[in-house]
Amino acid sequence: MSSPAAAETAQPDILSVEGLTVAFETDDGPLTVVDGVSFGLQAGRTTGMVGESGSGKSVSALALLGLLPPNGRVAAGRAMYRGADLLALPADRLRPLRGDRIAMIFQEPMTALNPVFSIGDQIAEVLQIHQRLPRGEAWERAVGMLRRVGIPDPATRALAYPHQLSGGMRQRAVIAMALACGPDILIADEATTALDATVQAQILELMTDLQRQYGMAVLFISHDLGVVSALADDVVVLYAGRVMECAPASAFFGRPMHPYSQGMLETLPSLTPPGHDLPTIPGTPPDLARLPGGCRFAPRCPRAAEDCRAAEPPLTETRAGSRAACIRPGPDWDPAEDPT
Ligand SMILES: Nc1ncnc2c1ncn2[C@@H]1O[C@H](COP(=O)(O)OP(=O)(O)OP(=O)(O)O)[C@@H](O)[C@H]1O
Ligand code: SF4
Ligand SMILES: [Mg+2]
Repeated sequence: MSSPAAAETAQPDILSVEGLTVAFETDDGPLTVVDGVSFGLQAGRTTGMVGESGSGKSVSALALLGLLPPNGRVAAGRAMYRGADLLALPADRLRPLRGDRIAMIFQEPMTALNPVFSIGDQIAEVLQIHQRLPRGEAWERAVGMLRRVGIPDPATRALAYPHQLSGGMRQRAVIAMALACGPDILIADEATTALDATVQAQILELMTDLQRQYGMAVLFISHDLGVVSALADDVVVLYAGRVMECAPASAFFGRPMHPYSQGMLETLPSLTPPGHDLPTIPGTPPDLARLPGGCRFAPRCPRAAEDCRAAEPPLTETRAGSRAACIRPGPDWDPAEDPT
């Protein structure tokens, strides 16, 4: 599926995800937690992925990278990257792409860092493995990357072990490692959530600068709509494992089409300052093992009517470049005029 931006600019997607479906084996049988998710990423653009806790953001990212936990499996879908379907690639062909062409940053930097090696060693090793650089050159490049991400005195800091750095410096080191090979795609899953506001702002600025320099596509997963509004070119909204809306950020934040998006944005006090967690709208997400029939948002939707419960609404174009999974989308819905 092409991204909203593709409609705006006719630039092809670097990653095109179609119908991604992930199921987990649980004690109560198989559970589908990501259900037919489609979106596209484009070079030089950031796609913000938002949704309540448990909506399937991390599982979607992990599935793309072949990193699902042992009880998880991709049940359906395609993720086309440079002519190859990432979801169908054998592990030995996916592994070399990971960390080289497709990089990732997670919330907790220590998950990406090995406590017993210096950060310089770890970045140099990535370059030695993926780019086959000789040791000396890899070390030089590692120090250069640490300088680029704003680590002071990088030649000395390269010798430091992860525990000798602050949380913010550690996340910078992880970003340096993720970007060392000049990836096409960066997946950042709550990458700044654990950092205090000042450090978070610095890291976000750094990511924007680096994206401008490298022109990579970024999938930015976050609870924080303020950050997403500041950073994203496009937005994908997940709810209980499905895409509810997929639109250019300006359209999404200006005139959201899906009632779920509208509910989120209405309760958000102000979009500009980062630091606003995803606002809570009345009700709770459905139990994935006991989904309601039809639209899974219906139990919380102020527009829900009988026809919403008949079938799951497909993601349908609502205006150029935007799609919503709703049979009654739009910003101008008036309950008094609804025929149902
Ligand atoms: N190993 C697992 N076995 C069974 N269910 C799992 C497993 N891992 C995740 N899930 C379920 O998959 C669903 C999606 O989880 P996911 O971690 O993708 O949510 P998320 O959108 O990233 O949430 P958060 O915002 O809290 O990070 C959740 O219902 C979660 O409980
Ligand atoms: S399909 Fe119906 S219940 Fe679902 S979001 Fe649209 S109006 Fe609400
Ligand atoms: Mg998550």
